[in-house]
Amino acid sequence: MKEKEENVKRISISLPPTLLDLFDKVSSSMGYNERSRAIQAAMRNFISEFQWSQEPKSRGSAVILLIYNHEVGGLDEKITDIQHKYRNLVSSTLHIHLDEIKCLAVIVVRGSSFEIKKIGEELASLRGILQLKVDYFEHSV
Ligand code: NI
Repeated sequence: MKEKEENVKRISISLPPTLLDLFDKVSSSMGYNERSRAIQAAMRNFISEFQWSQEPKSRGSAVILLIYNHEVGGLDEKITDIQHKYRNLVSSTLHIHLDEIKCLAVIVVRGSSFEIKKIGEELASLRGILQLKVDYFEHSV
């Protein structure tokens, strides 16, 4: 999407030159050919990463990545129970059997950041969870 002139604010920032060089190198290798666009994407990531858990009113989507030990008794069932409880949030679930013991679950949710935080916390509290990551995407930025 092309930003209209009136929807853009111009700012001037001070940066150490090495940081700027590295940013330009990484962003062009990622395919960004305009520095402004790369900075906007970096700012959106920064906001998604840090703001969502403190903004209970924000709405967004999230990908919850869960690696767990399926040999822990009742764990599969508890993970399913939590998804039933939050069925209004859960859009889709993917399950991959990583090896004899470990499973990867990818749970895609959308809704209020408050509820997304709650489902993440409930999953994290289960015994047998090895890794959990919540990647949240704010809808309004
Ligand atoms: Ni499995």
